[in-house]
This record gives sequence, structure tokens and C-alpha cells, in this order.
Amino acid sequence: MNVLEAILSRRSVRAYENRPIPSDTYQRLLDSLRFAPSACNYQPWRFILVQSEDLRRQVAQGAKNQMWMADASLIVVACGRPKDAYKYMGGYGNSCEIDIAIALDHLSLVAVSEGLATCWIGAFDERQIKHLLQIPDDVKPVALMPVGYPKTPDLNHPADESDRKRPDEIFSDDFYA
Ligand SMILES: Cc1cc2nc3c(=O)[nH]c(=O)nc-3n(C[C@H](O)[C@H](O)[C@H](O)COP(=O)(O)O)c2cc1C
Repeated sequence: MNVLEAILSRRSVRAYENRPIPSDTYQRLLDSLRFAPSACNYQPWRFILVQSEDLRRQVAQGAKNQMWMADASLIVVACGRPKDAYKYMGGYGNSCEIDIAIALDHLSLVAVSEGLATCWIGAFDERQIKHLLQIPDDVKPVALMPVGYPKTPDLNHPADESDRKRPDEIFSDDFYA
């Protein structure tokens, strides 16, 4: 599977088989996070790898009770460390959340190439997740990502064209339009 094929076949999957990920696959998932680019290569992140079933359940509760997440073999809680990040994006912006997003997106694509599926999770209670996973005050959980075997294998299927804006709505040549 090439990268574009992985991009086109990735879908958000919300039903997983509760079974473990083999260790060689698991290692490749971690590599996809570790080797992601970050501004100035500061790598302002920590990834909490939640594998125990009980903790997965509690994380799902902290994610607005999206309990289907708990069936995924792994939930990655991607934490940004803003104080370690590049702070001058466009002259003023902190790169932390962008850096994390790149790493998680790499993870989602490598997951597809391994026959796994993911879903981005932005709907969660930050205070609840921080308390549960002992995340320090100055560290921010940016997003969560369950990773697991899709209950229906063809849930990773090509996106429907009608699901996305048309090219003429989002691309412009030379100047903003
Ligand atoms: C930053 C972000 C946060 C999201 N949060 C959630 C979430 O909490 N729960 C959920 O079921 N889907 C969530 N999604 C998934 C989106 O709904 C999904 O990506 C979008 O509808 C496009 O569908 P696709 O991923 O299948 O292409 C999130 C996606 C992104 C990028």
C-alpha cells in the first residue's frame, strides 16, 4: 500500500474487535509517532499508550462516554509540552498542537497500512483525562486516538467524494480566493 492509498482508505472507525496488536506491528506504530517531524525538531510531546482494558474504559468515559473507544487495543493520548515547543510560528504561534497533529496523522496512516483503524478524538474532558493519567499541569492532552482492528474489515474504505469539499472550493492558484 502506498501513502496515497493509505490516505484514501483511512476512515474514522468507531467499532473495534477487542484483540491485541502483535508486537512487531506495535513497534511500527510507535515509530510512526517517534519519527514525525516537529518545528526545530523539538519533539514537544509525550504519548501515553493506554493498553489496559480498565484504563481504556476510564479514558473512554473521560472522552464524553464514547465507550466504543474502549474496545480498541490501544488508546494513544497525545500530550503536548508547549514550553518545549517552537513559539514563533508566523512570528508568534506555538507549534505544539501542529507537531502533535502531524505525529497522530502519521500514526493513523501507518495503522491503515497494518490493517488497523483509528479515530481522532477531540471530544474529551481535559481535566478528567489529566487527573486520570497523572498528566502534569503544564502538559496538555491535545488529542486521543484509539487504534484497533475494525469490527468490519472494510470499514477502512475509500472516502466518498461527496464527503469532501470540491477542489474548486478549497484550491486557488497564486492568490487567495
Ligand atoms: C481534531 C479532530 C477531532 C475529532 N474528534 C472526534 C470525536 O471526538 N469523536 C468522533 O467520533 N470523531 C471525531 N473526529 C472524527 C471526524 O468526525 C472525522 O474525521 C470526519 O467526520 C471525517 O470522516 P473520516 O475521518 O472518516 O474521513 C475528529 C476528527 C478530528 C480531525
